[in-house]
Amino acid sequence: MGRFLGLLVALVLGLGALGVLAQEEDDPVKEAEKQKQQLLEQSGGILPSDLYVQQGEELFKAKRGPKQASLEACDFGRGPGRLEGVVGRLPRYFFDTRRVEDLDSRIRTCMIRLQGFRPEEIRRSEVVAIAFYIASLSNEKTMYVRPLLPQEKQLYELGERLFYLRAGPRDMGCASCHVTYVGRRAGVLPYSDLLGDKRVASHWPAFRYSNDQAWTMADRIRACYANLGMPAPDFYSEPIIALTLFMNAQARGARMDLPGFIR
Ligand code: HEC
Repeated sequence: MGRFLGLLVALVLGLGALGVLAQEEDDPVKEAEKQKQQLLEQSGGILPSDLYVQQGEELFKAKRGPKQASLEACDFGRGPGRLEGVVGRLPRYFFDTRRVEDLDSRIRTCMIRLQGFRPEEIRRSEVVAIAFYIASLSNEKTMYVRPLLPQEKQLYELGERLFYLRAGPRDMGCASCHVTYVGRRAGVLPYSDLLGDKRVASHWPAFRYSNDQAWTMADRIRACYANLGMPAPDFYSEPIIALTLFMNAQARGARMDLPGFIR
């Protein structure tokens, strides 16, 4: 009898542990953490995202383009050359371009203005690497996006409208998956709670181990337009910056994990 009880207890405990395991696998944040640890062990401490940061730093500091200039004088909102924590305050309005810009768009602006590249010469892969480098200097800082200027408020409102807009062949919008269906799953992944979970908007740009690529928020948003069956807005365009502004403002107060490592 004692043995039987013992077995039963072991079985119940075992099932309980399995349940916990299944739950952990459900949580993409925990799953990403596990993968990150595994990769770190295999690679002797170097993550793929570190390589992008390194490459981005080289690109940022090198004298390049027709003007043979580096990007070190680029102003990301805290003054030329000041990079620390800037990601937590983007997108924001810039007086020199008279536009609200996000990280990607600001990098592009400086490649054009400081280095003299023509827009069609700018390689997306370089912008992404530079974004990784700048993001790494905002790691563990606080997300603090707060639309105050009229131009920022206007774009925030556009972002909010786009977020709730339902359109396309499926008559869906961002909110269909990321508000209504939160907790349900898309294939293996649960839909992220973009407005409630402050972890979500504060880890971009990120390396996605599930497709082995470096993505900024713009890449993420464009892929989600494909989820909607709709054509994605162009890189550096107003809809992308507006949605980023809206989502980053929701994440105000979050501690940033940059660059992110996600599924
Ligand atoms: C059909 C469902 C669907 C729609 C509609 C959708 N998404 Fe997503 N979204 C997903 C899924 C699934 C993931 C996570 C899976 C992945 O990363 O592959 C995701 C991930 C994201 C993430 C990253 C979350 C994280 O944890 O880092 C952001 C940001 C995002 N979506 C924004 C948007 C925006 C903005 C829109 C509207 C333009 C949108 N999504 C529309 C399904 C959707």
